[in-house]
Amino acid sequence: MSLEDIANNIRVCNLCSLSKSRTLVVPGEGPVDAELMFVGEGPGAKEDIQGRPFVGSAGKYLDTLLGLIGLKREEVFIVNIVKCRPPGNRVPSWDERKACLPYLKAQIKYINPNLICTLGNTALETLTGEKSISRVHGCLLRKENIQFFPMYHPAAALHNPALRYTLESDMHELKNILDKVVSSLYSSETNNTTLDSFLL
Ligand code: URA
Repeated sequence: MSLEDIANNIRVCNLCSLSKSRTLVVPGEGPVDAELMFVGEGPGAKEDIQGRPFVGSAGKYLDTLLGLIGLKREEVFIVNIVKCRPPGNRVPSWDERKACLPYLKAQIKYINPNLICTLGNTALETLTGEKSISRVHGCLLRKENIQFFPMYHPAAALHNPALRYTLESDMHELKNILDKVVSSLYSSETNNTTLDSFLL
């Protein structure tokens, strides 16, 4: 199944009640061979209308953060835990997250990124089980052979400008880690096991 096949399956999904209130599904976007994947929580109002992730104010700030480390959004894969907007932007329930997770796992398996950056608590907890973003942001977490780099959600810095400094310094750390991960991949023969057990 290609990445576009996965997206097409997501577009017709009605596995949970979020499908009833959505305008458009937001499967995610980016290059098939992206080294870096960002995972947010779920589409907001603008994303629901456009069918694209992170196109509102949090997305503009994400673009700025990427620019700090010389990346453009077209170079990374951007996706969410749930693909349909939770009404009123509420946090998606565990049932909704669980219904949607096989799609994200299929996307991760297909793209096989070197690093997955979780944005905010929902993505962190859903993918790693870790509950405290304030404890683990800016640190590399390894879970079942996948490397996660948790960051605060860009929207959090829009509400609380004091978090901007934290997000920006975590972004620089992400770049350091990404460079190390990529160079260790090229210097080692052993590294194609990354995603397997997580994705089974
Ligand atoms: N917030 C998210 O978590 N995802 C989006 O796509 C937009 C805002």
